[in-house]
Order: sequence, then C-alpha cells, then structure tokens
Amino acid sequence: MYSIKENFQLAGFNTFHVAAIARYFIELNDESSVRDFLKSEMRDQYPVLVLGGGSNVLFTKDFPGVVIHPLIRGIAVESEKGSIVCLKVGAGENWDGFVQYCVERNLGGIENLSWIPGLVGASPVQNIGAYGMEIKDNVEKVEGFFIDSGKKFSLSANECRFAYRDSIFKNDLKGKVIITRVVFKLNREPVFNTSYPDLLKEMDEYSDTTIHNIRQAIIKIRKFKLPDPAETGNAGSFFKNPVVSEERCSELRRFFPSIPIYIMHDGSYKISAAWLIDQAGWKGKSCGKAGTHKRQPLIIINHGDATGEEIYQCSLKIRKAVMNQFGIRLETEVNII
Ligand code: FAD
Ligand code: EPU
Repeated sequence: MYSIKENFQLAGFNTFHVAAIARYFIELNDESSVRDFLKSEMRDQYPVLVLGGGSNVLFTKDFPGVVIHPLIRGIAVESEKGSIVCLKVGAGENWDGFVQYCVERNLGGIENLSWIPGLVGASPVQNIGAYGMEIKDNVEKVEGFFIDSGKKFSLSANECRFAYRDSIFKNDLKGKVIITRVVFKLNREPVFNTSYPDLLKEMDEYSDTTIHNIRQAIIKIRKFKLPDPAETGNAGSFFKNPVVSEERCSELRRFFPSIPIYIMHDGSYKISAAWLIDQAGWKGKSCGKAGTHKRQPLIIINHGDATGEEIYQCSLKIRKAVMNQFGIRLETEVNII
C-alpha cells in the first residue's frame, strides 16, 4: 500500500531547489506497492515520472501527472564466487551510502564513484561515471517493472546498452520503467584505478593505495571542486562532454591547438565541455538568477530563487555561445522536465 499526496511541492526533491508542483506524489517502499500502483487506474489516467534524489533533473514547469518516488531499501548478497561478490541493492538506497558500505567491507569496484549524489535506482540510467570509472563495469543486472504492462523485467549489463552517460533507460525505455533493484559485482581483491590526473596527484598525500584512501581522496577533490547542492542549487555537469570522430578531432586541433581532447576506449574522442564554456567566456558568469560555477563552468547553479525556466534559458545561452565560437553543439546531461 501507499499514500497519495496531491499538489505536492517538489522544491525539496530536486538539487536545483526549483519550485514545481506535482499533481500527485507517491512514495513506493516495496515491490508489492509498485505492483499495486501499476494496477491502479491512476497509472492509466496520468503521465508518470520516476524521481530518485532529483540530482539530475531540472523542472521547468509543474508536472501534471504522478511523480513516483521509489524508496525500496536493502542490500543483500546475491552470490559469491572466488573473490567476486554480487550485491542486490534497493533502488531507494542512497548511492554514496552504498559506496561507503562497500569500502568499509573492502569490496572494490565503485570507490571512484564516491560522493555522487542521488539514489541507487538512478545509477544505471545515465551510467554514472567519475574519475576513470563508470558503473557499467560493475552492474550485473537491473530489475524493475514496465510501467505500461506492469510486467517485471531483469536486464543484463549487456542488455542495458551502456555508453558514456547513456543507457537503454535514456533511449528505448525512457520513461517506461520503474527500476526497483540493481545487482552490482564487487571484488574482495580490489583493482585500483588512480589514473585520472587529479586523483593521481591527490594520492601523493597517502602512504598507501587502498579503496578507503581512494574514496577519501575523491571526496576531498569533489568537495573542493563542486558546489554543495545543500548550499547552492545545481545538478552537477549540465552538459555532456561532446564525443567526436577522429576526423573532426583533427579539424578542431588545427583551428584550436590547445583544445583538451581525450581518446576513449572505443577510439572516439571526448572534448572537454568545461573548456569550451570557459573559452566562450562563461566561467563564473551570471545570467539573471542563474549562472555557471566559478571553478567548474560545466555546472550551472541557482543563485537563490531562479525558476527552472530561467536556469534552462541560461543553458540555451551557454549552448549558443559555444556553438558560435566552436561550431559544437552541447548535449544536455540533465533531464529537462
Ligand atoms: P534523479 O535526478 O531523480 O533522476 C535522474 C533520471 O533517472 C530521471 O530521468 C529519472 O526519471 C530516472 N530515474 C531515477 N530513478 C529511477 C528509477 N528508480 N527507475 C527508473 N528511472 C529512474 N553524475 C555522474 O555520472 N557523475 C558525477 O560525477 C556526478 N556528479 C554530480 C555532482 C553533483 C554536485 C550533482 C548535484 C550531481 C552529480 N551527478 C553526477 C549527477 C547525478 O548525481 C547522477 O546522475 C545520479 O545518478 C542521479 O540520481 P538521482 O537519484 O538524483 O536521480
Ligand atoms: N576545465 C577548464 N576550465 C575550468 C574547469 C575545467 O578548461 O574551469 C577543463 C580542463 O581542461 C580540465 C577539464 O576541463 O582538465 C576536465 O575537468 P574535470 O576534471 O572537472 O572533468 P569534467 O570533464 O568537466 C567530468 C564529468 C563529471 C565527473 C568528472 C570527474 C561529464 C559531463 N562530467 O567532468 O561528472 O565528476 O569528469 O570524472 O562527463 C556529472 O556528470 O554531473 C559530473 C559532475
């Protein structure tokens, strides 16, 4: 069973802290409540939006349907084989709380993803990534329900079609599922990944490399670089780093010799969106009640009481400035509602 809240204010449920009213708001605490909701008339009558911690969404207006907030909890051992342990985790667990749980038990694999806001259920949606790791390498399967049919699904990592800040949940299954649990593959014999330049430098402060120290180093870097959403409304990187072909990369290097470009595993090239925005004169710049962060221009911030629409308009200006100067179209990472 679940309770239904009507005309619910979402300002406390998104990290931009923008005001938006949901016609209905329902917290679902277990699978049977999810099943009940999917059998209800409400499911057919209104559009449905699944909201986790609200750290990757921007509400530009009120939502005229049902906002589902899945808070299914629990961390359980699914299987163990040699040094590999699979843990099944409820969608409503706090992501960083789960990372801490693993680090405390010396279960390696997700320590580089420390201090990312949000809930576990959203982690496969955009294949969260940071400091040289992406969750795709640790997801075993993703479980949930199709909103239309109410049927249960279980997708392997392969079936999730993970890519840089992308997955099937942002494409074919966009808006069509409620993820209820994610199974993660962890290693009792951690393999360290400290190659990301900022991390490599920060690790000099530690006498040995452990997943505990990697987590501490990353938390320190992130606390310095990124605005704390509790104090300054933001949703992390607003745009993705653009990915281009080798040909386009050579062309860009000819015109802009200092442009930072990183080669990816699949042979494509990733350009730093922060650099593009910085060069376009948008670092720490305000645009009404919104603007970009002074240390990380890829992050759009709410200076106080900006509306979602004002933040969105600011993002369009930044995108236009980058397009005019570099001919590159920035794609949003944040989900615009
Ligand atoms: P929400 O914002 O609530 O939802 C995001 C999307 O997932 C929406 O489309 C929503 O409909 C969908 N969704 C959420 N839960 C479910 C579910 N159970 N079933 C189906 N669909 C669902 N991201 C990174 O990848 N790397 C970073 O380093 C990073 N750093 C950040 C730093 C800051 C300061 C902030 C504010 C954000 C950062 N982010 C980062 C973005 C964000 O934290 C992640 O994308 C996170 O996974 C979003 O989780 P959430 O629970 O808040 O999802
Ligand atoms: N840069 C500038 N000016 C600045 C800041 C950065 O030119 O003011 C350039 C520098 O060249 C720097 C480069 O941008 O080397 C990269 O900056 P950073 O290391 O901060 O990483 P990012 O590419 O901007 C990505 C992710 C972050 C993730 C970090 C760390 C995306 C869209 N963003 O940012 O993820 O935490 O790497 O791995 O891929 C998020 O997705 O919300 C997010 C915060």
